[in-house]
Amino acid sequence: MLLKHKTSIITGCNRGIGLEILKTFSQNGSSVFACCRKSDPKFLEDCKIMSERFEVEIFPIFFDLSNTEEIKNAADEIIDKTDSIDVLVNNSGVIQTSLFQMTKIEDYIKIFEVNFFSYVNFMQRISKLMIKKKTGSIINISSSSAHEGNLGRSAYASSKSSLETLSKVASRELGRYNVRINSIAPGLTDTKMMRDSTPEKYLNEALSRISLNRIASPIEIANVVLFLASDLSSYITGQTIRVDGGM
Ligand SMILES: NC(=O)c1ccc[n+]([C@@H]2O[C@H](COP(=O)([O-])OP(=O)(O)OC[C@H]3O[C@@H](n4cnc5c(N)ncnc54)[C@H](OP(=O)(O)O)[C@@H]3O)[C@@H](O)[C@H]2O)c1
Repeated sequence: MLLKHKTSIITGCNRGIGLEILKTFSQNGSSVFACCRKSDPKFLEDCKIMSERFEVEIFPIFFDLSNTEEIKNAADEIIDKTDSIDVLVNNSGVIQTSLFQMTKIEDYIKIFEVNFFSYVNFMQRISKLMIKKKTGSIINISSSSAHEGNLGRSAYASSKSSLETLSKVASRELGRYNVRINSIAPGLTDTKMMRDSTPEKYLNEALSRISLNRIASPIEIANVVLFLASDLSSYITGQTIRVDGGM
């Protein structure tokens, strides 16, 4: 129960890595504001089951992270419901694969809207509560692409490396309020995003460059998020932890 009596916010938790973080956090005693783009009866049912099983409160909240007004309203809704947020996990993300010369500025803007600007916006609003309470942990989900410079991923990888830099700078500014900000850079992880964007041929080639010779399961990323969210990591801030099986 590493997060007992804590309240967390997780974005993009209807599937993939985010859903696994939601399960892990509830199992560890955290109440969660579960942020997703759209309402979905299956997700609401899953939240109800987890909430009863782990005896925590799960509040689903629906908004589109590419819409600034919706982000503001969602943050206001959360702040109306609680004056204490211990953990913010910014996990939502979108990917695009296209060669640099073929990638339009509009494509970069679209990717940055979700992978970078929404993170800035949400972090600024939610960190105010943490600053007031003088405690908090923010975890931003980056990607190994930010370090590897994978072909065809100029927009995605740039958005993720900007996110890591943002986390580092913000961690220095908010450290005095005991607010920690870290990034996690997963490698290939078994989710819809990975399956839709990674052709079989590339996957085999990539596996040969991974020391553990396999892709990650989402729980292996969620466990590191749990560590950074919990007091076990109380002296870690401004870091990026690569969880990539040894890429
Ligand atoms: N899987 C990998 O191999 C891998 C590797 C490195 C980093 N990552 C990062 O890990 C994070 C989670 O990815 P995943 O693999 O779990 O991908 P995923 O299964 O595609 O999930 C992405 C999540 O982001 C949400 N999202 C996307 N655009 C949104 C928007 N405009 N507003 C609100 N929510 C939005 C999606 O909601 P909808 O269901 O509504 O689309 C979904 O919940 C991402 O930041 C990704 O970049 C993944």
